[in-house]
Formats: sequence, C-alpha cells, structure tokens
Amino acid sequence: MLVTYGSSSEVLARSIAKTVGLALVEINIRRFPDGEQYVKVLGNVSGEDVAVVQSLGMNPDALFIEYSLLVDALKGAGCRSVTAVIPYLAYARQDSRFHRGEPLSIKVIAKFIESAGTDRLITVDMHLHRYKEIREVFSIPAVNLSAMPLLAEYYRENFGSQRTVVIGPDMESEQWAKVVAEKLSAKYMILEKERLGDRDVKVSGELSTKGSKVVLVDDIISTGKTLIEVISRLKAQGVKRVDALVTHALLVEGALTKLRRAGLSELISTDTIPGPQAKVSVAPLIAEALKR
Ligand code: R5P
Repeated sequence: MLVTYGSSSEVLARSIAKTVGLALVEINIRRFPDGEQYVKVLGNVSGEDVAVVQSLGMNPDALFIEYSLLVDALKGAGCRSVTAVIPYLAYARQDSRFHRGEPLSIKVIAKFIESAGTDRLITVDMHLHRYKEIREVFSIPAVNLSAMPLLAEYYRENFGSQRTVVIGPDMESEQWAKVVAEKLSAKYMILEKERLGDRDVKVSGELSTKGSKVVLVDDIISTGKTLIEVISRLKAQGVKRVDALVTHALLVEGALTKLRRAGLSELISTDTIPGPQAKVSVAPLIAEALKR
C-alpha cells in the first residue's frame, strides 16, 4: 500500500505513512487562473492500493473536487484500489430533512465519495446520530474510528482527572462524552441543545458541578457558539476551570478568541483539522486501521 494526500492533509499523510512504514506518493496540486483545480500524481502507483488522506475541513466543496480529481488521476495511472482517509467528513450534520425542501446532505456526500471511485473509507468521529452506524450511510466498506480515547488520555496525562465532570452539550455528544468520562473515571452529564440559527443555539438542562473542574466534549467546534453557551452557564455557577476536548476544531469566525473570552481554559483537539490546539494526532489510529 502507498499513501498520498490532498492539500488539507499533507502533514497528517506524511505522519501516517511514517507511522505505518509506507511510502508516500507526492502530488502536484495547483489552480488554473480561473480557479479550476489541477492535480498530478508524481509517483508510480500502477497495481498498488493507495490511501488518499484528505480532510474536508474549511472549504469542503473545493477539497472534495480536489479529492475526486486525485482518485481519477490515481485510477488513470493504474492503481488497484483507493482507500479514502477522510478524517473530518463534512456534511454529516445534515442527517435528516429537518425542514421541507432540504437535502439529506449526509447521503449526498456519501454518494459523491463513492461515485468518485473510492473503494473503501476511513473516517474519524463522524457526526453519526440519526444514522447510528456508518454502514447505514455508505455502501462501500467504511470504518468510523474514534479519537476520544486518545483525547481523554492526553487530558489525563497533562491535566489530571481528579474532581472532573464531563459535559456533552447535546444528545449527539453522549457517545463521545461517555467514552471520555469512562477514561477519566468521571461522571458525565448531557444537556439539550436547540439550534436557533447558523450562529445561534440555546442550551438547557440540569447542571450540578459543585467544586469540580469541567471538561466539555464534542465532535466539532465550528463557530464555538454551542460551547460558549455552556461555558457561560458554568461560569455563572462559579465553576473555576472549564476545558474542552473536541475532535474537529474548525474554529470559524474567531471562535477561539470568543471561547477564551467566555472563560475556556484549554482547548485540545486533533490534527484532523490542523492548528495550534491540535495537540493529539490521529496518525497512530489511522495507521492501525490501514494495517488491518
Ligand atoms: C452539532 O451537533 C455538532 O456536534 C456541534 O455541536 C456543532 O457543530 C458545533 O457548532 P458551533 O461551534 O457552531 O456551535
């Protein structure tokens, strides 16, 4: 097997290749003056199984087109199979037609990935909620790994776990909060979230955190509004320290500054989306899955 990358995940791809001991195929990626994308595979992939690492983080549409061009380039160059390693899989939150006239985006992105020529898929902490299992979404073999045990481990080693309460901001987050709480030997609570708009949420539910430090757990931070709502309530209760463990920190529109202003002490995320807070790498997790 060989490993290659799209422009969102070059560093992660190098790290995965190194961890698993596979050769990395270099790619030339550029744009034409009118904005169209161009990719070229620079190594020999004939007869090989190739893993393409490409998170669909910021600008997911452009990153997806780039991924599709890459798969076609690899198949055109005679590769035997393509494993999509898409650590952050965009469009999964629209897993229902919440209102009349809306698309079922989670299924649309799955169909696009399949029709691009993907043979198998590996992702990390996909936003599965109404679809419980990844195989309900994809018809190709697909694996959903979780970075939550690694995040919890990192937290325990660096910040300790005594007198900690884990909080998930909404129903979807229970699957992740539960795992972190178990690893930290802590209690967990799940709140209820009502989305009022793209940048507006209301979080409700009982909070009892006396004398504890709080670790918030979620799969994604986008605008930060969800966690800011919870932090504000915790601060009003007098909680001194609030940290957050999140797999995919998109952090749009100055979210990190807003979270800090609200009183967040430490944000720890993974390198599915690179950034200074991405202290935990998913490379070993993905390397293990590729070996299997
Ligand atoms: C949605 O349910 C996700 O799990 C996250 O809670 C959500 O994407 C966070 O978005 P934001 O940071 O914009 O509130």
